[in-house]
Amino acid sequence: MTMKLIEKYVGGFVSGREMEEIRGEVEEATREVLEGTGEGKEFLGWVRLPESYDREEFERIKAAAEKIRGDSDVLVVIGIGGSYLGARAVIEALQGQNRNTKVASADDTSGRVLQGASPSLTRSKASSAPLEIYFAGKDISSLELNSLLEICGGKDVSVNVVSKSGTTTEPAIAFRVFRELLEKKYGKEGAAKRIYATTDRAKGALKQLADAEGYETFVVPDDVGGRYSVLTAVGILPIAVAGIDVDELIAGAGQAMEEFSEVDFEKNLAMRYAGYRNILYRKGFSVEVLAGYEPRMAMMSEWWKQLFGESEGKEGKGIFPASVVFSTDLHSMGQYIQEGERKLFETVLSFEDAGVEVLVPECDGDLDGLGYLEGKSLEFVNERAMRATILAHVDGGVPNVVLEMDRLREFELGYLIYFFMMSCAISGYVLGVNPFDQPGVESYKKNMFALLGKPGFEELRGELEGRL
Ligand code: PA5
Repeated sequence: MTMKLIEKYVGGFVSGREMEEIRGEVEEATREVLEGTGEGKEFLGWVRLPESYDREEFERIKAAAEKIRGDSDVLVVIGIGGSYLGARAVIEALQGQNRNTKVASADDTSGRVLQGASPSLTRSKASSAPLEIYFAGKDISSLELNSLLEICGGKDVSVNVVSKSGTTTEPAIAFRVFRELLEKKYGKEGAAKRIYATTDRAKGALKQLADAEGYETFVVPDDVGGRYSVLTAVGILPIAVAGIDVDELIAGAGQAMEEFSEVDFEKNLAMRYAGYRNILYRKGFSVEVLAGYEPRMAMMSEWWKQLFGESEGKEGKGIFPASVVFSTDLHSMGQYIQEGERKLFETVLSFEDAGVEVLVPECDGDLDGLGYLEGKSLEFVNERAMRATILAHVDGGVPNVVLEMDRLREFELGYLIYFFMMSCAISGYVLGVNPFDQPGVESYKKNMFALLGKPGFEELRGELEGRL
């Protein structure tokens, strides 16, 4: 098994009888996902994607990634929400949060291997090795954009603009800025060879622009929503540019697809997780905290929060998804989790083998009182911290579901991503909502357009101005 779902720390809060009682609902919800009979069924393209993806496009993506690695120092990925979170999450999970610093500081000509990264980062344009990857268009901060423009100064830059609708304001603004930069630097034609657009097959402003300017385009399939799109061109192009083995990532998702394609409440882990979540929610545990012990998984938690938050938070319902990085946050949020309002449950992500070994050094004397840890690995200490915390939190009234995997690699990550998407879809149906729409996101957009003076929003603008 690629993953284990450890249920014993939730057993004191959810009985076997309660799991039996919810079984029928979970089975029905799972059938709705697998057979495509539920609400939002037109957005189930991700379910069979690991086997049905467009091979021809996949090869084009790999070729584009090779070209970018060969002619660029920096790739700027422009997108927001589901159009950037997955790619960033996978890249940081596998290569660490400091990958750009490592790449930038590596010797350009020696192509030396940087330790502690998976896969190893080498940089040498000649051998088309990894480059710096930054994300823009995910906010409207002039400070952030300005600092990224400074980073890009004097470097060769390519841009991957990602927007399914092709009309989202934040990435559209950032794209204008970077288009201008590239056109000034390389001329219109040269810039066009460095801009890659990932968007709808046929419609939207970005598609029209890309066709008019001759950018290479990749498709966000009609039947895959933003937060379920990381394994399409949306995520795969930036991930491939990072030098990550995208075949392994898809293979891991494919393994999960096989395992979760049977309606079997005993064996299907996505069904069991969805069952626990809904029982806990009905008992008043309305906040789920995703707890990890690897800081490089922090962006993966952000991806997870969007997936569950946007899929379930509607019609006055839904578990609020939160996240922590332990042991760091045990020194900030640990107090609340241990003794605050009792409405939290935790989903703990555990990787047994870190893949690198750092030992607590031996030293003369024992002035720091750490003698008992000499020669022990940090991995061991981290694991003990995790076990200690799980027991303490369970004692404090916080149910814990533990997801355990061997190693943090492409295959496992692909598996985990698919597991969460499948669990989320099932869980949303059990909750009684459509897990594939996001009507609530429109409200702020309408107001923002009105306050920005967009034509067509004059009446609303008048009303809002009066309330400011
Ligand atoms: O999950 C979603 O649908 C959203 O988060 C979108 O991905 C996000 O709003 C960006 O939309 P678009 O890709 O159309 O620019």
